[in-house]
Amino acid sequence: MTTTAAPDAARSAAFVEKLKATYNAGMLTMMINLGHETGLWEALAQGPGTSAELAQRASLSERHVREWLGSVTVGGVVEYDAASKTYNFPQEHAFWLTGPRYTNLAPMSGMVMGLAQRLDDVAGAFRNGGGVPYDNYRPHFTHSMDVLGRAKYDELLVKVYLPSAPGLIERLSIGVDVADVGCGTGHCLNLMAAAFPASRLVGFDFSSGALELARAEAQRMGLGNVRFDVADVRHLPTDPGFDVIFAFDAIHDQADPAGVLGRIREALRVDGMFFMVDIKA
Ligand SMILES: C[S@@+](CC[C@H](N)C(=O)[O-])C[C@H]1O[C@@H](n2cnc3c(N)ncnc32)[C@H](O)[C@@H]1O
Repeated sequence: MTTTAAPDAARSAAFVEKLKATYNAGMLTMMINLGHETGLWEALAQGPGTSAELAQRASLSERHVREWLGSVTVGGVVEYDAASKTYNFPQEHAFWLTGPRYTNLAPMSGMVMGLAQRLDDVAGAFRNGGGVPYDNYRPHFTHSMDVLGRAKYDELLVKVYLPSAPGLIERLSIGVDVADVGCGTGHCLNLMAAAFPASRLVGFDFSSGALELARAEAQRMGLGNVRFDVADVRHLPTDPGFDVIFAFDAIHDQADPAGVLGRIREALRVDGMFFMVDIKA
């Protein structure tokens, strides 16, 4: 016979608080995205102002801006001084939500927005099996990935990430065959093609839309040593192979990560090098 213990009231109360905080954070994420899309974070970073002043700075409707300011104030992002009716963006907060550097995390809110738009498709896959094709998440996902990665790679790729692998800079400088699996909009590969003109680089992705952007950037940069091929990296070409293979934030996206890593192993020449950047999750 099973006995059911009475619910623990304190545990139950703690959980509902956690649940409410989770929902509030979800709503606040939307407000962060709205501030990013409308330029309100940048307007606030110029200095304290009333809702009318901030609306004017961002060329927006005051009534709507006032409502948004209320929510980001309650959300703890902005401070309000009731006496002067001004809103202040603490510099410690503005640092993470404004500016051209990779420390601006405002675009990351776009990831959540984009994923939420596809939730019906995911629910359908739960009911019917199968998956949601990667392309269904575009162009939103590609764009968010590009914006988030671009500033980070501009600042860190050649100066910090690549030197962390002993001998890699030397190989790339001498001139080797390079592949980037899941290269997306190709910014990493274009940066490397510019920095290492003696190397020959190929980017693979199954998104033709992302690769069009990659090719356009390569053309703007005047690069003749890089190309982009539409391919599912589960079938990465293994002959004649590559000296260096990169995967930037692309292995965790795989339906079969071990299979793709095995394929990368097969595509590496003797003494080849695999360089992977991924989230620690
Ligand atoms: C998170 S994005 C990273 C893009 C890029 N490397 C960057 O750092 O900005 C992952 C990319 O891998 C691509 N991708 C995922 N699985 C793939 C597969 N099996 N074959 C080819 N591309 C794939 C996606 O289309 C997407 O562009």
